[in-house]
Amino acid sequence: MREIFSVKSISGLMKETEGKKSLQRSISLLELILFGIGAVVGTGIFVITGMVAANMSGPALVLSFVISGAVCALAALTYTEFASAIPVAGSAYTYSYASLGEIWAWIIGWDLILEYVVTVSTASIGWSGYFNQVLQNLGIHLPHALTAPPMQGGIVNLPAILIIVLIALLLNAGVTQSKWLNNVIVTIKLVVLALFIIFAVTHVKPSNWSPFMPYGWSGVMRGASYVFFAYLGFDAISTTAEEVRNPRKNMPRGIIASLVICTLLYMVVSLILTGVVSYKKLDTAAPVAFALQQIGIHGGAAIISVGAICGITSVLLVMSYGATRIIFSMSRDGLLPSTFSKISQNRRTPGPSTFLVALCACGISGFMSLEMVSQLANIGTLAAFAIVAIGIIVLRKREPDLARPFRCPWVPFIPILSAATCVYLAWQLDFFTKLRFVVWLAIGLVIYFAYSRHHSTMRHPENISEGE
Ligand code: ALA
Repeated sequence: MREIFSVKSISGLMKETEGKKSLQRSISLLELILFGIGAVVGTGIFVITGMVAANMSGPALVLSFVISGAVCALAALTYTEFASAIPVAGSAYTYSYASLGEIWAWIIGWDLILEYVVTVSTASIGWSGYFNQVLQNLGIHLPHALTAPPMQGGIVNLPAILIIVLIALLLNAGVTQSKWLNNVIVTIKLVVLALFIIFAVTHVKPSNWSPFMPYGWSGVMRGASYVFFAYLGFDAISTTAEEVRNPRKNMPRGIIASLVICTLLYMVVSLILTGVVSYKKLDTAAPVAFALQQIGIHGGAAIISVGAICGITSVLLVMSYGATRIIFSMSRDGLLPSTFSKISQNRRTPGPSTFLVALCACGISGFMSLEMVSQLANIGTLAAFAIVAIGIIVLRKREPDLARPFRCPWVPFIPILSAATCVYLAWQLDFFTKLRFVVWLAIGLVIYFAYSRHHSTMRHPENISEGE
């Protein structure tokens, strides 16, 4: 039984990436930051803010963003130490394999699959909302049955499914094309948010900020646990470690720079959003565009909608990419069937794992509500952050001499604080979210003991396949 706690050797991990199944190193620092912003700014700021301002935080939405951002910053410190010390694909999953042992790596990998796939699903639902809004502005009305899940009186959310399929095809066509596209759409969404700030700032009425905390501190904290979704994705940067040039330097810089840029952006946008209209009116499918409409800037609202569509598309690209890389890494380790670590010879992309992610995300986004799936994504991520933080303490003890180009300050204080704040935020989420998460973990453990334990290539090297 002790074997389930065996850890991977770090030098072995590094060598593995130079072997046959390795990916191409082509991503620069700027591209990495754009990749981070591409993963982060999306449905959270464009959609979830409205619901949270109206029902939880009120104008104190900005505080919810600051609290959530602080929790992410603590997590970023621990993630970055790992990402700089062990720059290989797989993110937190790989880190825990090298620090906490196989069973923990499995739990975190399984949890990350949930996080990424459910984030892709949530983002696609947000995308569908803005897409419908644009179509309606053009006079095209899709039937409700084809744009809403059964629990909201529809049959299926078809645009959400279609965008996921499109993204999967892009990713499968190769990282170079999708990286180029990512850079273009990240630029568009930053410009669009800047335009929102410029259009709206002169319409801010300080009276809208009063009362500042209509639902008290408990509302602000609950709001923080929901808007946490807006930060998801910065950890996806670390899943690219095998494809980044000079990863030991560029990973920490990329993670921290994207997080700082996004936090500042969210603070400004949320202050302006709640300053131009009463928070009570913001619970709509497209609150940022709605705010501009309310102050009579209709052209600006249309631009925001198109920008939101672009912005969320890049989230979809990055998170789908992250999901495939996690599955790829787990499959390469034998914990998932080897089919999912197959790389196509000509494109060097992992086709089967891309297909699997798209299939699962379509199944969720077509039939579930945004509120339900966004919370699942949050709890999955918070759990992953907490385990990674503990992993830092363990790795410091187990591998004290490991070269760490970036060192998390004040260990073990910061990692413990990071884990505690993640657990606290997770606790703020709905009871059913917590229940669904526990069920997901239980299914994962059954799979681990029934399959993965016996196929682990670390303990059964005879299972290693030669790739395609
Ligand atoms: N942070 C990403 C978003 O808000 C997942 O869409």
